[in-house]
Amino acid sequence: MLVLGIESSCDETAAALVEDGRVVLSNVVASQIKTHKSFGGVVPELASREHLRNIGYVVWKAFDDAGKTHRDIDGIAVTQGPGLIGSLLVGVSFAKALAYSVKKPLVPVNHIEGHIFSAFIENPGIEYPFLALVVSGGHTSLIYSREQGQYQSVARARDDAAGEALDKLAKYLGLGYPGGPIIDKLSKEGDPRTFSFSIPKISDGSLDFSFSGFKTAALRHIQQTGIKPRRSGGKVSRVILNLVASYQQAIINTLISQTRKAVSRLHPRSILLVGGVACNSQLRLIFKEVFEKSDTAIRVYYPSPVLTTDNAAMIAAAGASRLHPSSSLDLELNAFADLRLC
Ligand code: KG4
Ligand code: ZN
Repeated sequence: MLVLGIESSCDETAAALVEDGRVVLSNVVASQIKTHKSFGGVVPELASREHLRNIGYVVWKAFDDAGKTHRDIDGIAVTQGPGLIGSLLVGVSFAKALAYSVKKPLVPVNHIEGHIFSAFIENPGIEYPFLALVVSGGHTSLIYSREQGQYQSVARARDDAAGEALDKLAKYLGLGYPGGPIIDKLSKEGDPRTFSFSIPKISDGSLDFSFSGFKTAALRHIQQTGIKPRRSGGKVSRVILNLVASYQQAIINTLISQTRKAVSRLHPRSILLVGGVACNSQLRLIFKEVFEKSDTAIRVYYPSPVLTTDNAAMIAAAGASRLHPSSSLDLELNAFADLRLC
């Protein structure tokens, strides 16, 4: 089954052709980093306009790279939510118009489910039940699944998502955008033991995440000790290297600690580490070390970086699991900014 995936939930316009949910024939991503960089974050109105400008070319290129035409596909999968509503609507409207004109079925996909499926593309043999840590710029959640298509929410972010916390500190310190990969790189030169962040305790027994306290503590420390943000293009000072390394470590420690508690409650066979922050080199390393070495019955999976950040191959893979070539096209299909998976 050949599926065209379309993704436009945030600031990447993406299209991909995927065979049988796992063979990626093409994977095109038009990033908007240049557009949003000077604002230090995604500007929703600009994002929608960029999607509009790019989507036709991105979809055409996905067909061209794969050497296929619309006649070859069995259906289209599109991200329906969650995300920025203006951005989502560009993808959904384009997908509906294309599906109507080429007479192919269209299946809506939840972006979070897409991230979960990103792990299956390269590892089709992942064993159930699994626990997925979805950790990105917009989401931090633990999701448990006993069987394909069934999801149970275990924990979510009460305030900032992990990627958002990294992006915000990087912006404040003048390090650049997006902050996650920059902090990942700089942390290798800093000492993570320099500054100790206390991990918040949520008293109701839930495994929810909270990262905004780290940001407040870091900003207070910056103000009290007079740390100056980096000047444009200047060298990053030792105190900043140490601070970002400690901050990244605090976020990783929280992710590990909540995942560990979920593992001991639910006993999954597999752990999936997905979403943009799952590109983090230290997080990948520690996850394998903590969960595979301490319990040899558990396997940890994370996708290649190109499938970890937002892309349409993961949307096509998730869509393939639900697409029936005989299903009719639902022209009422709409986008939802706060669509829930479970
Ligand atoms: O999944 P994604 O592309 O978009 C959302 O669905 O949000 O994730 C983007 C997030 C950003 O916050 C970015 O800073 C973070 O992923 N990110 C990283 C790394 N690469 C991307 N965070 C930490 N380390 C990285 N290497
Ligand atoms: Zn995402």
